[in-house]
Amino acid sequence: MSSKHPIGVFDSGLGGLTILREIAHALPQYEFIYLGDNARAPYGPRSFETVYQYTLEAVEWLFQQGCPLVVLACNTSSAKALRTIQQKDLPGLAPNKRVLGVIRPTTEVIGDYTETDHIGILGTQGTVDSGSYAIEIAKFFPDVKVFQQACPKWVPLVENGLHHAEEADGIVKECLDLLLEQSPYIDTILLACTHYPLLMQKIEAQLPRGIQVISQGDIVASSLAAYLKRHPAMEQQISRTEAQTSIDFFTTGDLSSFQHKASLFWGENVLAQQAILPG
Ligand code: DGL
Repeated sequence: MSSKHPIGVFDSGLGGLTILREIAHALPQYEFIYLGDNARAPYGPRSFETVYQYTLEAVEWLFQQGCPLVVLACNTSSAKALRTIQQKDLPGLAPNKRVLGVIRPTTEVIGDYTETDHIGILGTQGTVDSGSYAIEIAKFFPDVKVFQQACPKWVPLVENGLHHAEEADGIVKECLDLLLEQSPYIDTILLACTHYPLLMQKIEAQLPRGIQVISQGDIVASSLAAYLKRHPAMEQQISRTEAQTSIDFFTTGDLSSFQHKASLFWGENVLAQQAILPG
């Protein structure tokens, strides 16, 4: 067991970096460890059982690295695995540790962004099929109408480093059209997959004016900061850093490919290490 106690941030692949960047910016005093399960991405088309199994393995691995707190920076895992892990696994596995997701903090505030009360949700097939966004938004903003569109080709674009390629234009447009056909009143589109902000330039370029695009990074970061204020016993367990930021990057996939793509996104050299999950 490690003597470090960083905050663990998990995603199926590179997408969670869009959350980690905002969290690390908002909370630079803590140590972080990032795990991307790139070897098994995408999670979006996988069954509930498989996403749950993979996510649980990742959470257990992050606990073994000393994390007292893990953020599932993945909507698909948050939709399909979080509740079971929190309710069924944590009490036996690590009753003093916590696992948080990205759906709840987002749905608590997303209704504040729309003036027309019509929100479009773009996510993986798994997130859309779970209905989690519609269910959760209805609790906080009962008047808001939710329209969803799965974009199954978008995560592979990002994982394959093609999010700036010309061939991505048509793939992005296809999903945006399918979403906007569902209602002319949508004024807010939520990127409910952490990979999608990497396509932000192309998304914004193709949308009609007057529609705002929201990504989750800063929403999740402020929610985590508030959570740590409310839970001082947890906050005190997390290792602090003297450095500007302290992040250890791990991937289950090809190391040099992860380093290359993560460095492009991060804007500086990312050195990663190999993680081997039990599955
Ligand atoms: N980035 C993840 C999400 O937010 C999952 C993408 C995938 O592996 O399909 O849903």
